[in-house]
Amino acid sequence: MDKATVLSKLNEIQRWEWTGVAQYMQYHFLVRGPWRAVFSDEFKEGADESLGHAKKIGDKIVALGGTPTLERAEVKQTIQLDEMLQNSLAFEEGAVKLYSEAIAMAEEWGNKALVILLEDILLEEQDGAEEWAKIIASTETGAGQKSASKVG
Ligand SMILES: [Fe+2]
Repeated sequence: MDKATVLSKLNEIQRWEWTGVAQYMQYHFLVRGPWRAVFSDEFKEGADESLGHAKKIGDKIVALGGTPTLERAEVKQTIQLDEMLQNSLAFEEGAVKLYSEAIAMAEEWGNKALVILLEDILLEEQDGAEEWAKIIASTETGAGQKSASKVG
């Protein structure tokens, strides 16, 4: 494992975090209906968290002699809340995968501090994935409008 390979993986993460900033902000702007009262803030928090991660990863890329990317992956556009929730879960699961891969590389490279930095962020990504999964599960089990309309 060499530094260039690790830097390449860190920039892959940076690209993902910029995607999170843009995608979560777009959902923050666009979510509508009664659930806006809940999810607009939730999506803003997702954007803030991605920005915080981009700051940490960008700082580390520079410290290792690299240049943080300004690219991002595709933002999944939608105005449907259920799709926003599914896309948010998929985004966090993608982050878990990327950070897990980066941790394995940092371990092989022998950079313990980098491992710890990445592990701290991985915990937050995993928490995020689990939270979105719980939110999606609650809507699928019919706590909301679908079951109520059947009763009526
Ligand atoms: Fe993140």
